[in-house]
Amino acid sequence: MAEVLSIVSGKGGVGKTTTTANLGTALAAMGYKVLLIDGDAGLRNLDIALGMQEQVVYHFLDIMEHHCPPENAVITDEKHGGLRFLSAPQDVSGAEIDKARFKQMVDGFRPYYDYIMIDCAAGIDDGFAMAAGAADRAIIVATPELISARDADRVAARLEAYGVTEVFLLINRIRVDMIKKGDMIDIDTIINIVAVPLIGAVPEDAGVITSNITGTPVVLQPKTRAGKAYLNIAKRVTGRKVPIAREEKRGFGRLFRRK
Ligand SMILES: Nc1ncnc2c1ncn2[C@@H]1O[C@H](COP(=O)(O)OP(=O)(O)O)[C@@H](O)[C@H]1O
Ligand SMILES: [Mg+2]
Repeated sequence: MAEVLSIVSGKGGVGKTTTTANLGTALAAMGYKVLLIDGDAGLRNLDIALGMQEQVVYHFLDIMEHHCPPENAVITDEKHGGLRFLSAPQDVSGAEIDKARFKQMVDGFRPYYDYIMIDCAAGIDDGFAMAAGAADRAIIVATPELISARDADRVAARLEAYGVTEVFLLINRIRVDMIKKGDMIDIDTIINIVAVPLIGAVPEDAGVITSNITGTPVVLQPKTRAGKAYLNIAKRVTGRKVPIAREEKRGFGRLFRRK
């Protein structure tokens, strides 16, 4: 029976889609049955991050409105370890989608998967309501900027209102050089602003940008720093205790001291 994990943020462009693609790919590679749902109606791009844009014909609204059976809309990607993917409609906004029916559809998938992950739209409006309403757990993605951290804290409060109490923080695009120079807020400051436990930190890595172009999540290149970080976070999602020595050596040590 799957658990439903929504990937959310306040601010846009912080790495929700990148995170969904990488965690999903990593979990599928570990042998879990994973369904990724693009919850960003109108601005979908998870298909591109996964390199599946050519395969998309139907989307989740087609299932909700009975235009096709679920198996016609869910795409299987053999090269990503049997990962399944369900796209979002492009010409419909989150406001037009019935949240209760979306949750019903997601619940219908539960018996067939271990993890269902929803790549949420930015903000705390309709797309958020849809993804939060269907979730058991959530990962809030933030970048080391004051605006992003403050928005993430507001998202944490909203998640609680939706009854999502198991919430984690993922800090993305960390640049240790900038933090050292004082040009970027440090991890302690972020953790103080966003009062939820940290699940991991992902460094700024040019490999991520390339991976979005090639449609091969960076986690499939385990030598990259971001790939390693996402692999560790995927293990933490499954409840495994992952040693953090490597991150510590890279200067993220303070991250994990405060739980
Ligand atoms: N760790 C990272 N290092 C470098 N670039 C990143 C990283 N994470 C995300 N990006 C880039 O930032 C942009 C926004 O990421 P995306 O995952 O689409 O954010 P969101 O879904 O929150 O809008 C993309 O161009 C992506 O390639
Ligand atoms: Mg996105």
